[in-house]
Order: sequence, then structure tokens, then C-alpha cells
Amino acid sequence: MNIVMVASECTPFFKTGGLADVIGSLPSALAERGHTLSVFLPKHASLPAELTEHATFLESFDVRVKWRKQYGGLYLYQKEEISYYFIDNEYYFNRPALYGENDDAERYAFFTHACLEAFDRLQLAIDILHCHDWQTGLLPAYLHQHRSGRLPKTVFTIHNLKYQGVFPLSVFDELLHFRESDRSQLEMNGAINFMKTALLYADWITTVSPSYAREILQHPFGEGLESILAQRQPMLSGILNGIDEKSYHPGRDQALYQTYTRQPARKQLNKVRLQQELGLPVLTEAPLFVMISRLVEEKGIPLLLAVVDQLLSSETMQLVILGEGDPLLANALQNVAARYPDSFRFIGEFNESLARRLYAGSDFLLMPSRFEPCGLSQLIALRYETVPIVRETGGLKDTIRPFNECSGEGNGFSFTHYRADDFLHTIRYAIHQYGRPEKWRQLQLTMYNSRLGWNQSAGAYEQLYNQLLSEEADTYD
Ligand code: GLC
Repeated sequence: MNIVMVASECTPFFKTGGLADVIGSLPSALAERGHTLSVFLPKHASLPAELTEHATFLESFDVRVKWRKQYGGLYLYQKEEISYYFIDNEYYFNRPALYGENDDAERYAFFTHACLEAFDRLQLAIDILHCHDWQTGLLPAYLHQHRSGRLPKTVFTIHNLKYQGVFPLSVFDELLHFRESDRSQLEMNGAINFMKTALLYADWITTVSPSYAREILQHPFGEGLESILAQRQPMLSGILNGIDEKSYHPGRDQALYQTYTRQPARKQLNKVRLQQELGLPVLTEAPLFVMISRLVEEKGIPLLLAVVDQLLSSETMQLVILGEGDPLLANALQNVAARYPDSFRFIGEFNESLARRLYAGSDFLLMPSRFEPCGLSQLIALRYETVPIVRETGGLKDTIRPFNECSGEGNGFSFTHYRADDFLHTIRYAIHQYGRPEKWRQLQLTMYNSRLGWNQSAGAYEQLYNQLLSEEADTYD
């Protein structure tokens, strides 16, 4: 099958969140199953120089945006068996921020138009066009409006419904090139909504976990689009993300102080060195908790702030938080750090190498999200043999089974309601189990056997693509 993925970020090129990890690893898993994979991305400023040097300039063309012709350059970077195509336009993409600019509608309308043009020029006989998140939301609609004949089947994946690409109505007339009769498909509550457009035009919609696929049919998880999702429910499914097990590999990870695979003593060495690195007292017996997250409300930072004093003043434990984002949340965490210099650290940055040392050197990962489409940190934690404590929502619910001390089943701890008391109780229960060597050993064993890679999910995508293509064959018969 000839599969094209389109997205706005992708590791190792540029990353702001989990979307980049997925685009950086799912294509390889599909290529391993014998498919041809191309990935289309904007050529953002943060593309590392050594990669730019290895990318080949293919050609340039005009892209019509705002009644003007804009320059569209096309670069190719071939890595293993995957072709990465970068759409170049200095004005739109040579900026530090991937999103949040006041002309985002124009930038991503340009990007999607340029992709369409590039598909034609490259004469890619695409079977499946797989678009991700609002930045690519116009592509299925453009395809239907501006191209005819045998069109590729389109799949649109929602990574997070909270971010929809919502813009003033004026962008419709100024830059989107749609017919007036399509207006209602793009409008939502008096604004233009890129995500809604994708939900209406894509042949199939997926999201990144089965639970989230159910949750978004209702308020508040549907973020205002629940009725449209309900209308398209027969074409909506959830496929769990995996992680790149080669990149996240405690047995080989160069960022760690000490590599290990199912060797608790070697893992413990990482804990000691981490405590030293962070200037925390070296306490091998005290459970070390980490939270590695963008600092946004929905990741449950307010819930953590609600319990942190009770926890740190009554338990012998340490807690380290790594992440950047909302300055108000960062401020609150800095205040906590000032109150508990011996047991709490807040590092307000995005630091991939330190993140890996935290996964390796800790005993528990906290993830009390209010909602979570899939979540990758809990999977990375399992990979580094660190026990996740999560709220049962979205992908967290689908990947973490709560530990049952009688049966020994379960690969983590979880709580149902977004309530401080429940969170606190779950952490205390986890600390209690941590102090019971026999139970802890059982938990570790189930954790080691958790499913983390892409194999099964790549199979599910493949099955979906095949289904879409066979439906098409039926129509042509
Ligand atoms: C978004 C979601 C996260 C998901 C990731 C990759 O960042 O918030 O839950 O894991 O996308 O799909």
C-alpha cells in the first residue's frame, strides 16, 4: 500500500508534544509490514542543521494563498525506507513557534495546499492519505474540492480534541478557497474550525485510544464537537498509540547513568545518581516520584497542587516535576519547591535527556490527567520499569490496569474520579505496596510484560486501511 502521512511535527526533526513521537514512529512500524511510507511536514526553523544538509531540494512551485502566489519549496530527506518531504516557505515556517502565531490559519492553509500540489508533482499514486490533528484538517476537504477521479482514501486522526484550529470567519473569504456552498461545513459557533472540517470530510476518523473514542461522543470530552462526532460515529474508531521501543530502551539509552534491563539494582544506581544530580538527599528506600509533562491544566497539575502539602509533610518520599508551559502553574510549583527543599524539585524546561534519567531513576510516574487521548509518558515509564499512577481516563484507562494485591495482576495504580482525596489515597496505597517486597516483585513482573510497541496498533491501522480500500473496490465494481 502507498501511504502518505501529513502532520505538523515529527521526531527527530521538531517536537512540541506526543504527536511528534507518533509521527516519528508509526510510519516505520507500517513500513516494516511492507508498505511504502511518505511523511509530509512543514520545514520549520527548528529542523536541525545536520538534517537540512542531508535533505535534497526537489523543486519549487506556486501556492495560491490570499489571492497571491506564494513560494512553495519541496525538500526530500530519505531515512531508512521512509521518505520525509518538507514544505518550505521561509515566511511561514522559519519562525521559532510551530503554532500560536496570529496567522496560523494562513500558515496551515498554505501548508495543506502545498501538500496537494506536491502530491501531483511527485505523481504519488496514493492509496491512503492519513492526516493528523487540526493543522492538516483542511486537506481532506481540499482534496474533494480541488481534485477528481480516483481519490486516495482519507483517514484523520485526532490526537487532542481540545486544540481545533479555530479562526475568525473572515479567513473563509480571504484565504481558504472554498465554495460558498461549503461554508457550513467549515463553520462552527460563528468561527472557522479546521478540526470540524476534517471530521466532516475524512473517510474515516480515528483517535489514539478506544476509551477516548467513546468519551469524545459526550460533553465535556467532545469539546463542542460531540454532535458531529456522534453523527460520524460509524466511521470513528480508537487505535492505541505505541512507543518507539528502540529509542526508549533502558538497556541502551545513552542518556542514563547506568543501562539496565530487568535489573532493579542497576536501576537503583540511576536513582542514586539522579538524587545527586538534583541535589536531593540520597535516600534509596524513599520512593521517588516524577511527573514529566507539559504544564497545562488538563494534565492534572492543579490536582497535584491540591495534595502536595499533605503528601510531602506526612510521607518520606521525593517528588520531581519536569516540564514547561503555563507560567501560573510553573509559579505555583516554584513555590512548592521553596517550601520543600529536601523532597521536591521543579525543573521548568523541556529537557529530553533529563526526562530519560527521570524515567530511569524514579519509582513512580504521576499522571493524574483530567482527560488524556492516549498519553505516552505512562508507556515510557513502563518501559523504564517505573510504575505509573494514573487517572482512569482515555488512553490511561486502556493501558494501565490497577494492581490487585490479591491476584497480583495489574501494571500500575489508578483512580477513577478527578478528586484530590482519591489521588492522595492512591498515592498512599502505592507507597504501601512499595514497602512490601513480595507484592512489589509481582507488580514488576506484570509491568515487564506490558504491551508497549507499535506492532499490534500498526496491524490495526493496516486493517483499517485495507477495509477502506476494499470498500472503494466495491464501489468501482
Ligand atoms: C496528544 C495527546 C496525548 C497523545 C498524543 C499522541 O499530545 O494529548 O494524549 O498521547 O497526542 O497521540
